Amino acid sequence: MTIRVKTFKIQKSDGKDKSRKNKYIAGLAAFYFKPTYPWTLKQTKEMYYEKFSEEYNKIFYEDCIEGMKKIPAESVDLIIADPPFGLKFNGKESIYNRDSNLVLEGYQEVKQSEYYNFSKAWISELPRLMKNTSSAVIFSGWTNLLEVLTAVNETGLHLMNHIIWEYQFGVFTKRKFVSSHYHILWIVKSPKNYFFNKIEHYPLDIWKISRKYKRGEKKNGTRLPYELVSRCIHFLSEPGDVILDPFMGNGTSAVCAKGTYRYFIGFEINKYLKSIIDIEISKIKEGQLFMPYSEIKPNVKALKKKYPKAHKEYLKREDLK
Ligand SMILES: C[S@@+](CC[C@H](N)C(=O)[O-])C[C@H]1O[C@@H](n2cnc3c(N)ncnc32)[C@H](O)[C@@H]1O
Repeated sequence: MTIRVKTFKIQKSDGKDKSRKNKYIAGLAAFYFKPTYPWTLKQTKEMYYEKFSEEYNKIFYEDCIEGMKKIPAESVDLIIADPPFGLKFNGKESIYNRDSNLVLEGYQEVKQSEYYNFSKAWISELPRLMKNTSSAVIFSGWTNLLEVLTAVNETGLHLMNHIIWEYQFGVFTKRKFVSSHYHILWIVKSPKNYFFNKIEHYPLDIWKISRKYKRGEKKNGTRLPYELVSRCIHFLSEPGDVILDPFMGNGTSAVCAKGTYRYFIGFEINKYLKSIIDIEISKIKEGQLFMPYSEIKPNVKALKKKYPKAHKEYLKREDLK
């Protein structure tokens, strides 16, 4: 595999509120919001096709800890990793109210007692694969969070945000609270050089995104929503970037990469999942989940409700233009 160097950049919008010379008005900056990199669809496609390589869009059905050693240094722009939980969960339980006959065999679990060593082994492979601009996103349940955070700390990678994904249901409990969240650790190699496209004015670190399940579908029972994975991709990578997923599962990150004009490489130890992953990837068209960043505009109507004073000032300034 060849090492790719980022070559194509357009003028970055400075993201500053030009009105700051005037007095501060709460919420006013939101009316003028522009993404840091407002690439158009045409620019996005150019970046995507320009960076194409035969080495991309491949999934290897093997242990990622061994597999990642064969990938060249500094060849990955974003890592999306959703490792097995370290619970007694085998991907087939009916906890999500699913028919376990429709969930595929072969889900590879890791014992809780081995979870730290497992986390350390795969997370240690990341710094070598990452460029200075790269990010990694690690999904974790709360029960094994300590092991994952400890392993991250020990690799020398930097934690930028600890995001909470809140979903709409959890396993029924009698004598404790129902858990309905996941942890998403956003990690970078270089806190000075990482890539971040701020595509929202005020992106909070709690994301409310529903888990979807299509009835009658065969799958590994731990699929992440496309919306969740695409959100990570949009903020943390450029069009044409290479996304590595060490734990492909149903192939969600491959689907989201293709759907957002990115490339993927990945690993999955369960060979039974190949047919599902292939179908999922073939169902999505290149760019199908993409929304050009140049078209992201502030929702003035919604902002007016939240910041009426700022809205008046905004209209006044628009009139003066
Ligand atoms: C939580 S699931 C990933 C689900 C995926 N994010 C999705 O949306 O479909 C974890 C996956 O990692 C796989 N796995 C476990 N250990 C592995 C290893 N050492 N190397 C590669 N894959 C592994 C499991 O078989 C399982 O499919």
